[in-house]
Amino acid sequence: MGVTLGFGTAMLGEKAAMLCTASVEEVIDGHYKDQTYKLGKDEEELKKKIMKFRQDELDHKDIAYDNGATKKGLYGVLDKIIKTSSRIAITISEKV
Ligand SMILES: [Fe+2]
Repeated sequence: MGVTLGFGTAMLGEKAAMLCTASVEEVIDGHYKDQTYKLGKDEEELKKKIMKFRQDELDHKDIAYDNGATKKGLYGVLDKIIKTSSRIAITISEKV
């Protein structure tokens, strides 16, 4: 899924590819955040790991914005398409 998105947006241009990264990372950030809220006191260890993963993804997102990712104009539409696709992928992976 990520590969298809990455490849498709790579063909659209570098800005779109960077936005793809940023959009996916933003969805993943929200997903990790939800998970840390759901974890109890007895799962501190796992929680710490997820918080670290989350920070890694936030760093990737910053890199994408530093490299030209933008949500201006039509890119904003692309952002929504990517986010919706990513959320569907996460939902599917949670059910399987
Ligand atoms: Fe990442």
